[in-house]
Amino acid sequence: MCGIVACILKDGSAAPVLLECVRRLEYRGYDSVGIATSDPMIRIKKDSGKIDEVDAELDLADLPGSMGIAHVRWATHGLPTAENAHPHTDCSGEIAVVHNGIIENYLEVKEELESEGHIFRSETDTEVIPHLIEKYMDEGMDLEAATATALRKLRGAYAIAVVSSREPGRIVGARKESPLIVGVGEGEYFLASDVPAILNHTSRVIYLDDGEMVILDGDLRVTDMEGNTVEKEIHSIDWSADMAEKGGYDHFMLKEIHEEPSAVRDTLTEWDEVLGVVEEIGEVERICFVACGTSYHASLVGKYLFESLLGIPTDVILASEFRYSAGALNDRTLAIFISQSGETADTLNALRAANSRAKTLAIVNVLGSSATREAQHVLYTRAGPEIGVAATKTYVSQLTVIYMLVAAMGAPELMDRLGRVPEFMERALKDEDSIRELAATCSDVSDFFFIGRGFAYPTALEGALKLKEITYIHGEGYAAGELKHGPLALIDNGVPVVAISPPGPCHDKTLSNVEEVRARGARVIGVGSISDESLRKEADDFIGLDPEVDDVISPLIYIVPLQLLSYHVSVERGLDPDKPKNLAKCVTVE
Ligand code: M6R
Repeated sequence: MCGIVACILKDGSAAPVLLECVRRLEYRGYDSVGIATSDPMIRIKKDSGKIDEVDAELDLADLPGSMGIAHVRWATHGLPTAENAHPHTDCSGEIAVVHNGIIENYLEVKEELESEGHIFRSETDTEVIPHLIEKYMDEGMDLEAATATALRKLRGAYAIAVVSSREPGRIVGARKESPLIVGVGEGEYFLASDVPAILNHTSRVIYLDDGEMVILDGDLRVTDMEGNTVEKEIHSIDWSADMAEKGGYDHFMLKEIHEEPSAVRDTLTEWDEVLGVVEEIGEVERICFVACGTSYHASLVGKYLFESLLGIPTDVILASEFRYSAGALNDRTLAIFISQSGETADTLNALRAANSRAKTLAIVNVLGSSATREAQHVLYTRAGPEIGVAATKTYVSQLTVIYMLVAAMGAPELMDRLGRVPEFMERALKDEDSIRELAATCSDVSDFFFIGRGFAYPTALEGALKLKEITYIHGEGYAAGELKHGPLALIDNGVPVVAISPPGPCHDKTLSNVEEVRARGARVIGVGSISDESLRKEADDFIGLDPEVDDVISPLIYIVPLQLLSYHVSVERGLDPDKPKNLAKCVTVE
């Protein structure tokens, strides 16, 4: 969470560039925004609120100097106030720092610095960094050595960028357990938490590793914390700046839902990579998926696939629970870590713990992210950058890789059906108008239920997650058969129940559960085959999908109308679906 950017330009003004770059990171946090430039004096503009609000008030691009740093915050330590907004400075205002991560021992360091006379102005953990750098520069170190010495004193996670008027023309960056990439332009350099931030300026990128520092000063040098030079490879990124634009849509989320057919098509081109990884991995007796949120729901679909099609016992563990529950890994277990960002702290920690005990495979969307460098094997989803906080096209791309993996491990017949998924999705997307109308009729309810059996159960969970995160309506996903064990008590007159019932062996039993909720007054929104007359008859509202989509393949297609429903309910309620409150796209804290 939090996004940081830095740039050092050949000429021209850095502030407009920093503003443009940091806008592309707003999905990482929108509690506050701030920019510091150096000319060489450090000047700062910052405040709490979303970028547009703060910009309207402060005119963030109006700062002198051709180099600087910028930040968007997702608050952890200290309220989202102007004082706690980054950049943070030392006592003299000559050193400014932006930071993504958490400094765990900041209280003891702060106490020590205060006893030495340093004056703190915020409640953040970050502020100890500029004060420590100040202390070491006062002792005679240069910016690079002072930053390295400061970081050696700190425990926790960080990606930082530092500027100082005492050393004009230089930016120092460093990372440990929080992402930081270097953009290499023509005589100009960038730092950013994520690639989309800098795509308008360069597609040449260096991925920093933990414990590395980078010094930008008209040239570029990467070192370890002892100052030894580290040779790094420059990667060319095939994502374009347009991919991170709204492209005429009102919101990124809507654009990204409409990109799902092409995201699946592009991901299907990874078939040779999947075959290669399956061969490298060799024999597997057990699968263990580990993930969070939407990626966890994709993993649940994996369980149904591996167990029903291949008979391989499969566990699915929430990454944040992994350390308390994953006892049975061994060298014949394949632990699969699913993460859009490849930077989720819980998932990375679980991956690190599993690496010495099992075969590990990461399924990731963001190129070069931490998970891709730490897992033994990697497969990419080809969804392109996803900016909306709600995962949509990356979810169906994750599913596509999981289906391909199952196909490669013994169910090749899946591939023909997968090939038709984009066409089924395109048909589902054509129904958007009727889903918008449906959304208008249920935007003021307080509860929503989603039910499904078998392959439709993870779809129910994911449908509920999408709804609650962007509409703030209480949404629950249940296995349809579980209702009578408790949740049925919550069903009342008019409560919407979305019943997901694709053709397949679970269909009739789901229909019985639909009857149960109807008998208690629920408003049933049926989601099934367009030719499913029995579900249509039971339902108050009906979303019809291609009759050729059966339950096995349904998770890829049935989620599309549910994403659209959440999106339109969110818009109907006057919310911004791209930036749900309290959330951030990349969760780099435990
Ligand atoms: O980047 P990851 O896939 O590891 O993120 C995991 C969750 O934070 C994420 O899936 C989250 O639940 C979604 N953004 C919700 O739409």
